[in-house]
Amino acid sequence: MDHFSYIGGQLHCEATPMSAIADSVGTPCYVYSRATILHHYDRLADAFSSLNPLICYSIKSCSNLAIIKLLKDRGAGMDLVSGGELFRAMQAGVDPANCVYAGVGKTDVEIRQSLQAGVGWFNVESEAEFENIAEIARELNIPCKVALRINPDVDPKTHRYTTTGKKESKFGVDIDRARAFFRTYGHDDLCKLTGIHLHLGSPIYTAEPYVSAITKVLGLIDQLAADAANPVTIDMLDLGGGFGADYETDQSPAASDYAGEIVPLLKARVEQGLQIVIEPGRSIMANAGVLLVRVLYMKTSGDKTFAICDGGMNTLIRPCHYDAFHFIWPTKVESAHIPPSRAKQMDLEGLIPMDVVGPICETGDFFGIDRPLPPLQRGDLLTVFSAGAYGMVMASRYNSMPLPAEVLIDDQTVHVIRRRETYDDLVAHERHGVGTPAEVEHAHGVNT
Ligand SMILES: Cc1ncc(COP(=O)(O)O)c(C=O)c1O
Repeated sequence: MDHFSYIGGQLHCEATPMSAIADSVGTPCYVYSRATILHHYDRLADAFSSLNPLICYSIKSCSNLAIIKLLKDRGAGMDLVSGGELFRAMQAGVDPANCVYAGVGKTDVEIRQSLQAGVGWFNVESEAEFENIAEIARELNIPCKVALRINPDVDPKTHRYTTTGKKESKFGVDIDRARAFFRTYGHDDLCKLTGIHLHLGSPIYTAEPYVSAITKVLGLIDQLAADAANPVTIDMLDLGGGFGADYETDQSPAASDYAGEIVPLLKARVEQGLQIVIEPGRSIMANAGVLLVRVLYMKTSGDKTFAICDGGMNTLIRPCHYDAFHFIWPTKVESAHIPPSRAKQMDLEGLIPMDVVGPICETGDFFGIDRPLPPLQRGDLLTVFSAGAYGMVMASRYNSMPLPAEVLIDDQTVHVIRRRETYDDLVAHERHGVGTPAEVEHAHGVNT
């Protein structure tokens, strides 16, 4: 469920017409619905409430400070994968103790900053990384809590680029190697290795991969506790993220469907003191955000019709990077063209198949190929739905396109939470190479 709907043929985000957002902020622009974000957070919190989990929002999915703060105020901790994300979390007022920090390539600087900030858990991905964190912790004399990211060799049946829990992946440590890992490092005085972290991939559209990974890991937890020579008690299990989103209507199980299968596996363990963490990103943000673009030109080429928009792969790379489907529809339509759902097949009269593409100099620059759409003309606004996760965070300045604006809608109020970049922003970090604008003008004989 989200708060993007057609009222009188005009797409609204909550009570705000998308056309009004385009008029005031311009395009391309990311539009997020505050009510949808909170609803998605709450439905996860409700579904898993009997496990009393720490819900660590995965900042990587949409890292705007206003979104982080909104979720922190609702009770979320944060899932981090870099020093930059720790910085963002702290700027938004998040207590680092409510953060988990994963990532295969943590630098010494990032580790030092995280120790000094008091990050809740380091989710460690290799022996070498554990040894490095332990050495830096000793140098600073700061204790920390560590979870081992285990690779349970479960296939989440998702895109190969976002499959992370299989044996061949660069993430985590094989479950077969985990016992040796705990035997070697499980009794470090400063780096308390008492947690297990999983993240299988994303998006995962059934509970089954979680069930098989959790079942494997519970077996390991029991083995570790029963190791007579070196018993280790695991007191934290982080299940990661990966819960699906509705790129097509009703594509994803409800939060309660995932929880219905996961909770019974863990309830008794939680009662015995196991802390559960989940790290949702996409399931909160994907359907809570859309990308608003404007049609610059209509064009035909051979049998093809193209709608050329003012944003493309530079604003949303998922279609060309993951071959991802995003429903695309005009923000203003006749009543016959109000979409009954967001699906790949649209069975309405008068639609025209077209490629919806961007301005970037790449043939791979598209949002959708052969999409049946209502007739379009120059100046029309198009909405690319379900773009709130892994949208803006993966946007680039390729072709020297300034990054889009981001707005957070609260009923009728439009909060600009990131202003559109300017050309000055584009070159701000390169100025030192050529001098200030005044020096450049002087050097080129301009204004002299
Ligand atoms: C370690 C970890 N946790 C959580 C997530 C969030 O996944 P999702 O956005 O699918 O919930 C990711 C995504 O890549 C991840 O790598």
